[in-house]
Amino acid sequence: MNGTPQPYGLLAEVTHQCPLHCVYCSNPLALLDRQDELATDDWVRVIREAAELGVVQVHFSGGEPLVRGDLETLVAECRGLGLYTNLITSGLGLTPGRADSLVSAGLNSAQLSIQGDAAESTNLVAASKRFDKKEDAARIIRESGLPLNMNVVLHRMNLSRLDAIIDVCVQWGAERLELANTQYYGWALRNRDLLMPSKAQLDEAVGVYERRKAELAERMELLWILPDYYEPYPKPCMGGWAQTALTVAPDGVVYPCPVAAEITTMEFSSVRDHDLEWIWQKSAAFEAFRGTKWMPDPCRSCSRKELDFGGCRCQAFALTGDPGRTDPVCMHSPDHHLVQDALVRANQEDAAADGDTIREKLLYRRPRTSARER
Ligand code: SF4
Ligand code: FES
Repeated sequence: MNGTPQPYGLLAEVTHQCPLHCVYCSNPLALLDRQDELATDDWVRVIREAAELGVVQVHFSGGEPLVRGDLETLVAECRGLGLYTNLITSGLGLTPGRADSLVSAGLNSAQLSIQGDAAESTNLVAASKRFDKKEDAARIIRESGLPLNMNVVLHRMNLSRLDAIIDVCVQWGAERLELANTQYYGWALRNRDLLMPSKAQLDEAVGVYERRKAELAERMELLWILPDYYEPYPKPCMGGWAQTALTVAPDGVVYPCPVAAEITTMEFSSVRDHDLEWIWQKSAAFEAFRGTKWMPDPCRSCSRKELDFGGCRCQAFALTGDPGRTDPVCMHSPDHHLVQDALVRANQEDAAADGDTIREKLLYRRPRTSARER
């Protein structure tokens, strides 16, 4: 591989269609229509090329991947190639029959997202009243024999409910729960001032997390995804640009991460025009920020550059318009004031504004927002 790293994970975003409208959705602001999506044969070819490239795990995501009727075919292709498969789902649309057919095809695991501990929080964040369907989906996943992994995105509207959220996941039989503090891209960046928690809220939530993690150690694995705006240094996003994983969008365009479609100053290649090996090894976009040679100061001369890789390229672009700048989360970044300003606002406002007031202000991800409507 001439020194090029080998990817181990493929995020297959098979569709942008989704029954939910989450205010922190990380899909691009301009969502793709069904007619833009790769056909089954294209996805099968992508999976084969990914396996040849070294990928060992395929995560089927979206939107809601259950919308695709050919998911079983894709999962079966993975099984034939010895790849581990994971379904990332809202749970809406999951029936016992669908779960059984996916398990028969070889599905290895499922991750079910919730927005909170009750119908109100689901409705506030995702504009969906179907919290009951989430509970059904959890039961269906367990009864199908799959391990139940769960995920909840945390923000100022649900952090104070963390204990209750964990209780729900325990009751539903989750084996693993990812507590993912909001990362501010896409829709989340648009809603940042309404989603950003105060420092006091976060400190309290960290206490809850630590207490429950210890209590539940024998029963459920709890993971805390850091709220990076409050950190002194950025996250080592994706383990470095084009180092460990790739994302194929519904239309076949390939990205080094799930958010990079938002970097409008870069051109990314499609599996319709090139094979995955060429895109991974040779395309200009994948080469652009690989390693450390591209780094500007302060990263270039920083002792942490092999630890965090200068942070997140998507965040750098989202906040500065230049994906090649140091992540503004870093305390050494010349753009750090952009993050500090957001934190000052978050700590000034009343974190307990009522749901109706917030609902009027939130921007919900709209279904099929096409590039023309952007
Ligand atoms: Fe990381 Fe760059 Fe900040 Fe150093 S200066 S900590 S490498 S982001
Ligand atoms: Fe794209 Fe961090 S989300 S590099």
